[in-house]
Amino acid sequence: MEIVSVINYKGGVGKTTVTSNLAADLAWNGKSVLILDMDAQASLTFSFMAPDYWDRHIKDTKTIKSWFDCISQGNPTMPLSELRVRPEVVNNFLKSRSRTGCIDLISSHLGLINVDLELATLLGGASPTQTQQKYLKVHGKLREELNALSAEMNYDVVLIDCPPNFNIVTKNALIASDKILIPAKPDYLSTLGIDYLKKSVESLISDFNWYANKDDVHSEASPEFMGVVFTMIQITSGNPISAQQQYISQTKRLGVPVFETMFRENKTIFADAPRNGMPVVLNSYSNNTHSDIVAEIEEFVSEFSDKMEGLA
Ligand SMILES: Nc1ncnc2c1ncn2[C@@H]1O[C@H](COP(=O)(O)OP(=O)(O)OP(=O)(O)O)[C@@H](O)[C@H]1O
Ligand SMILES: [Mg+2]
Repeated sequence: MEIVSVINYKGGVGKTTVTSNLAADLAWNGKSVLILDMDAQASLTFSFMAPDYWDRHIKDTKTIKSWFDCISQGNPTMPLSELRVRPEVVNNFLKSRSRTGCIDLISSHLGLINVDLELATLLGGASPTQTQQKYLKVHGKLREELNALSAEMNYDVVLIDCPPNFNIVTKNALIASDKILIPAKPDYLSTLGIDYLKKSVESLISDFNWYANKDDVHSEASPEFMGVVFTMIQITSGNPISAQQQYISQTKRLGVPVFETMFRENKTIFADAPRNGMPVVLNSYSNNTHSDIVAEIEEFVSEFSDKMEGLA
């Protein structure tokens, strides 16, 4: 079971769109996928589930917020497997096409925004040993529980849709991850942000490992940068426009791997998909542009799978 965080602390760069389409195409190819929505905006959740269903059946007991609340209240956490739901629309579609893959979801909650503050209050400690234990507990808990889930369930991959920030919830996701995928727009500020993100992750992992090395229970975390996938590309004559191309080249010079395949910009096709509970890659083609976009997403997923041992 490979765990991948999809992150960029710039907002609106396509993290959720990449996560949902990646999950959908992997499931189409027969993989069992768990998606974990760690963003209080709950965009990934509502890309697969109607808000009124979430409100009636999920909100109070079956979101990642309930799980974090246990930690901040000092109670034992429920196993993550208890929080999973199987979104109907997409899974019925996969079944109807005789596909063996599936997508399970652990939902987010709009109240997750307050969880960080509560977790932060747990971090104060009277002695260095207490500080170490609290740091490891607050930052390493998701990692521990995903390890337990991996022993219990047969998922091929877990995709974590991170919020556009670097708070404790996000740090839990990064520490739990085997790989980190960075969707980004090719523009000036996003390119600056990638370098900063990379350094922040390296510093987080180094802090975590410093504490983990002093402790018998926790092992080191070592997530690997899978690379940047560029999104919202404007295409002219089959290539990104030159204003975007220069930022793509600049990112390659940062030493971060860059996916060859990119998500092109198309407001019409991408805007409506979440409302229907079906990512773009699984929708039937409305025109040639749509089929080109689907082909590009499939190519991206194939490149992604090649980079994951055991998933190709
Ligand atoms: N390739 C694309 N072309 C056009 N619009 C897109 C594309 N990808 C995503 N969008 C749209 O851009 C908006 C932001 O996308 P998305 O929610 O995936 O970004 P995000 O990085 O997850 O945002 P946030 O930081 O708020 O979580 C959405 O309205 C989405 O429909
Ligand atoms: Mg998002």
